[in-house]
Amino acid sequence: MDLAAEILWGAAAAGLAFLGILVYLAIHRRIAARGGVVPEPDPLRRLALKLAAYASVLVAVGQGWDLLYGYLTSVVGRVRLEPVRVARVDELGPGQFVYFTLPVHPDMTPGDHQCMLIRLEPEEAASLGEEFVAYSAVCTHLGCIVQYKPDQDDIYCPCHAGIFDLSGKNVSGPPPRPLPRVEIEVTEDGEVIALGWAGER
Ligand code: FES
Repeated sequence: MDLAAEILWGAAAAGLAFLGILVYLAIHRRIAARGGVVPEPDPLRRLALKLAAYASVLVAVGQGWDLLYGYLTSVVGRVRLEPVRVARVDELGPGQFVYFTLPVHPDMTPGDHQCMLIRLEPEEAASLGEEFVAYSAVCTHLGCIVQYKPDQDDIYCPCHAGIFDLSGKNVSGPPPRPLPRVEIEVTEDGEVIALGWAGER
């Protein structure tokens, strides 16, 4: 789930929790304003109502914290995202790959995240239209580290035999999502630089 969806979901959950409390209070106030006697619930019901109210407050506080944390880590992550030197072009032959780390996760929270830079073999490079590609090396199933398999033209996860194609798309096995892609740049003096997560800069 991306940050925008999390914010929407969190705001909706927090809103519903507050709405429940407000409706509960409004009903009691209304009965009292009409001079009516608010019926005393039996002890068990009163306890259940109290627990429901506490749970609503906890949900609202938790969601509020999630929103704040997501926002702050997103801001911090963006600030910390500097271009990272990965390798020299001549250090990596066709069909080879190298691991490197980015200082932020694909959701932009800070913390080292393992990635892989692949130099494709000529036929693969021709069909994909690029010679170097880089992805998160963390499997989207349960987080094992994936490997490039040039003999099979794919990216393989050894934990549960998950397979991604060379565009990072999950094509077989349990991984539910593609590998997040890293934007890279090949400089004129032969350096491959990682710029950050594609779509996040
Ligand atoms: S962790 Fe990669 S397939 Fe399960």
